[in-house]
Amino acid sequence: MENFRMYVPTDIRFGKNRLDELPESLAQFGKRVLLVYGGGSIKKSGLYQQVIDLLNANDFYIQELSGIEPNPRIESVNEGASLIKEHNLEVILAVGGGSVVDAAKVMAGAAYYDGDAWDLIVNKELMYDRKALPLVDILTLAATGTEMNRNAVISNLAINEKKGTWGWNLIPQVSFLDPTTTYTVNKWQTAAGVADTLSHLFEQYFNRTTGVELQDNIAEGIMKTVIKYGPIAIVQPEDYDARSNLLWASTLALNGLTSDGKAGGWSCHTIEHKLSAYYDITHGTGLAIITPRWMKHCIDTDSSTHEKFAIWAKNVFDIHEKTNELTARKGVETLYNFFKQEMLIPMTLQETGIPDTKDVLAMSSEAVNHGGLNTNRIFVPMEIEDVEKILLESFVEMSEF
Ligand code: NZQ
Ligand code: ZN
Repeated sequence: MENFRMYVPTDIRFGKNRLDELPESLAQFGKRVLLVYGGGSIKKSGLYQQVIDLLNANDFYIQELSGIEPNPRIESVNEGASLIKEHNLEVILAVGGGSVVDAAKVMAGAAYYDGDAWDLIVNKELMYDRKALPLVDILTLAATGTEMNRNAVISNLAINEKKGTWGWNLIPQVSFLDPTTTYTVNKWQTAAGVADTLSHLFEQYFNRTTGVELQDNIAEGIMKTVIKYGPIAIVQPEDYDARSNLLWASTLALNGLTSDGKAGGWSCHTIEHKLSAYYDITHGTGLAIITPRWMKHCIDTDSSTHEKFAIWAKNVFDIHEKTNELTARKGVETLYNFFKQEMLIPMTLQETGIPDTKDVLAMSSEAVNHGGLNTNRIFVPMEIEDVEKILLESFVEMSEF
């Protein structure tokens, strides 16, 4: 196990009927609020009105910024930062999914920066320990883990880029996690959230650091929970146990719990971020499609991975074949079928709206050259042709595993 610092100061308020705690949670930072939200889901659900009523009843000054896009854009971030400066705002309240919270995080940092906020995305040194406005959020979608971590992912579609940044001061101060607010998340986004949560766990689990049994055992437990409750949430969107387990699982999957103490880089996210940057597809859907192809690539090209994939298949899916390789391959097939049959995810890139393969080479070379996929930090280092193969295979249904 490697040395690590785990600093997660977020005050989690989990459960239903806790919104009366919101005014006090915000007021500790100030009464001048930037309220950030997305395209209207919170208006439809009634959450917006509840928040406004509470803030008005407690004499908050509110500036609103609505319309934060899924795969949030740098333009929205710059707009939020300008509002903060212009109105001397003291705290951000983000209400929505991961995109809204991520955009709010970068606004929080950009509030203390005079240039284009994109600088804080490409130059991570600038964000690392930058002062930031305090952020409180009400998360309405189980997926990213942003509610308890220091990361933010922002798109700049003008240059086909989608990039992550992070800073110690971007971690939300207070996160309200009410599973009932996720009842209205549709099947598509519920499934994408499940795939994203699993992918976060996989990116940290398929790793070469030794002596990290605790982190891996925790990860397997979270995977099993998500695999159990994901299909229930698809069929019964208002099942409280399913929604609460998925929500807390997504938070714990990416708050350091299963990654701290490990070295290494991420593979499938690096490839998926290119798909979202070029085609603005749903992050979790892209991950569900890429992941089984990536797993097969690892098993096909590097026999040293067979043991880890077999341990995963045994412990998570209870698969026991004659050899590690066979167990590993059966695990990949089981995961593919879980996404396709139980989570109802379309498992080819065409079905996400990507019409053809014309950008595959460009996306592959950017993923390798900018994302460092060919370095030793990666579980199985990949060259451009490897990523190209994975992407091309993502255009047709998998029949061999
Ligand atoms: O915009 P509104 O109207 O609110 O609708 C949203 C959006 O259309 C809707 N939605 C959210 N909550 C809802 C709801 N609809 C009905 N009922 C609710 N309760 O769902 C759609 C997608 O929302 P979005 O916030 O984009 O989804 P998600 O939470 O999956 O966030 C995805 C973004 O997070 C980034 C992704 O790359 C992507 O940009 N990630 C952030 C990470 C982090 N900060 O640590 C890590 C992840 O790997 C990921 O990269
Ligand atoms: Zn993700």
